[in-house]
Amino acid sequence: MSITILGIESSCDDTSAAVITDGILRSNVIASQKVHEQFGGVVPELASRAHQQNILPVVSEALRQAGVVGKDLDAIAFTRGPGLLGSLLVGTSFAKGMAIGLDIPTIDVNHLHGHVLSHFIKESEEQEVPDFPFLCLLISGGNSQIILVRSPFDMEMLGSTIDDAAGEAFDKCAKVMGLPYPGGPHIDRLATEGDPNAFKFAKPHIPGYDYSFSGLKTSFLYTVRDNLKEDPDFIENHKADLAASLQKTIIDILLDKLAMAVKETKVNAVAIGGGVSANSGVRAAIDEFCRRRKIKAWIPKRTFTTDNAAMVAIAGYYKYLKGEFCSLDMPPYSKVEV
Ligand code: KG4
Repeated sequence: MSITILGIESSCDDTSAAVITDGILRSNVIASQKVHEQFGGVVPELASRAHQQNILPVVSEALRQAGVVGKDLDAIAFTRGPGLLGSLLVGTSFAKGMAIGLDIPTIDVNHLHGHVLSHFIKESEEQEVPDFPFLCLLISGGNSQIILVRSPFDMEMLGSTIDDAAGEAFDKCAKVMGLPYPGGPHIDRLATEGDPNAFKFAKPHIPGYDYSFSGLKTSFLYTVRDNLKEDPDFIENHKADLAASLQKTIIDILLDKLAMAVKETKVNAVAIGGGVSANSGVRAAIDEFCRRRKIKAWIPKRTFTTDNAAMVAIAGYYKYLKGEFCSLDMPPYSKVEV
């Protein structure tokens, strides 16, 4: 008997719906919200309203592209958290309402588990997926974590950021440079033309596997401020070098801790996930990191790095197989650890 899951993601500023049958992706529709650009960051109330406008057309389109109708669905998986509460409420309520209407179960998905399990989204029967265990470097706008993944349900967080996430370091430094929100992709593009050794920014010295990016952010800000006193066009004249040096520092910080984790756990595969794993420098560095150590690198397609419902649907599929469903009175949550 085949199992078809509808996944719904609405944790931040992307409304997404996807359909997966027996682990194979049939559709993945994402509506990104442009309304936040003018504010330089996500405005929670506007995000919730945009989700309300988008959710029905996005779900309808995902079903249409997959060639299924409501009665073909076996369950609806939705992101229950972490994320923005108002945004999560839209997806959660929609999923529950639709499930009641169709008389099928709902499955709650932890957004971070979804990012890790995005490596198991298959677009064809033949596609390879990771063997367990593997280490996952989960780097997004809100998280920077090293996770030891022993099975789809057994994940141990070895380290996490104690302040800002890698994505915030990209976005906040980009904001200092006057780049639009989110700044990560702009830094990525500019970095290809700059010298990564042009500027030296602070790196943290904290024990264990935890990350910290707030010192780097301050050091970036001070470098720009000090140089602007001498040269009012400093940012314009050095934007590619600033971007390349910032990106290199972020990658160095990420890889230092990852190298420790690989050495100490002796796990022979590394996966990356989350929005920052779309970064070309990060992808190339992980590839090189794994090649040098003769371990396997799992680098997801860019569509599956940022928020998407395909990862929610695949996580929901694994929970379905285990018979783990969600009761209708389960509310969304804004914060949680893996
Ligand atoms: O996982 P994600 O879509 O969602 C949240 O965590 O909310 O990650 C978004 C983050 C943002 O900080 C964005 O700037 C960053 O991912 N990002 C990138 C790139 N694409 C997205 N950072 C660096 N380079 C990129 N190409």
